[in-house]
Amino acid sequence: MTLILGIETSCDDTGIAIFDKHKGLLSNKLNHQKLHAKYGGIVPELAAREHTRMVIPLIQRCLQETKLSIKDIHGISYTAGPGLIGSLMVGSVIGNTLSYICKVPAIPIHHMEGHLLSPMLKTPSLSFPLVALLISGGHTQLIFAKKIGKYKILGETVDDAIGEAFDKTAKLLDLPYPGGKSLSLLAKKGIPKQYIFPLPMTKKKGLEFSFSGLKTFAANVIRNSKKNKQTKANIALAFENAIVETLIIKCHRALNLTKCNNLLISGGVSANQKIRTKLKNMIKKRKGKIFITPTKFCTDNGAMIAYAGILRLNNHKKTNLEILVQPNWSIEDLLPIN
Ligand SMILES: Nc1ncnc2c1ncn2[C@@H]1O[C@H](COP(=O)(O)OP(=O)(O)OP(=O)(O)O)[C@@H](O)[C@H]1O
Ligand SMILES: [Mg+2]
Repeated sequence: MTLILGIETSCDDTGIAIFDKHKGLLSNKLNHQKLHAKYGGIVPELAAREHTRMVIPLIQRCLQETKLSIKDIHGISYTAGPGLIGSLMVGSVIGNTLSYICKVPAIPIHHMEGHLLSPMLKTPSLSFPLVALLISGGHTQLIFAKKIGKYKILGETVDDAIGEAFDKTAKLLDLPYPGGKSLSLLAKKGIPKQYIFPLPMTKKKGLEFSFSGLKTFAANVIRNSKKNKQTKANIALAFENAIVETLIIKCHRALNLTKCNNLLISGGVSANQKIRTKLKNMIKKRKGKIFITPTKFCTDNGAMIAYAGILRLNNHKKTNLEILVQPNWSIEDLLPIN
């Protein structure tokens, strides 16, 4: 039995989980902070305070559910970056304090590696090399992974993240925050080809993304259109299609460049059904393998941090009670797992 307690507090979700190396995920609790909805975006100071309020009760709930004591835990992994500094500090302080009290390692985890490894919560082995498409509220990245821990960023967004574009467009369509999911539900009722949106940065060579122009395009279309439900659904569909088409073009390019046919998709936006289906079909045609994160683990959660902790436990170097967080930590700076 090797038990890891995972603590995720990088943004606006407090995620706590207990993972056993042999039995798998034993408990997974989440508090999604609803208090930001009325502001239409995350307020960092409020996020940190809410994490402080929720971390200990969620750890207690995980321990109660598994009938374990904190003294049974063999290691504590926590998100050390990237993310909001105040939010990261909460997880780091609690993780390091528990590690000191229980005399077990505290393992700092890279949040995006947590997302990248999430498909392994269901499919324990990945086929390397692979291209990982990480699409979330704060990131849009294409990463070449030679093995676990050895990553090269092939391309990323030059402005807004894909999740931000979904959320801001959803807000303009009067949908509740975070709006990615409700926008895609509305899109299901849309009539195709009523609006044609541009496919940003697809004519130019390269693997960079840009979503701020698409967001402005959507804002102009919404301003100049009727405000009824059908028109909004038509716009949502055109917006979603533009995003999906753009991702397909960029994934093809990344796979061609790296001469590889294996694709992994993760992050909150990868919960989008159309993105999942279209990329699955694309990889089928290329006769490659696709690794898709189970929907319940796409957005932030403690399970992915606990799982990354299991993988990094043996490679972990002891630190001197440093409360380290790295809000701008690059995934390229990680060390491969031996
Ligand atoms: N079905 C969906 N379609 C599109 N977007 C979605 C869907 N479900 C969730 N999202 C989007 O996922 C994002 C949240 O994802 P996640 O929790 O991974 O982001 P984050 O942790 O805030 O950012 P990061 O991981 O980059 O730090 C939101 O922007 C949300 O709108
Ligand atoms: Mg995230």
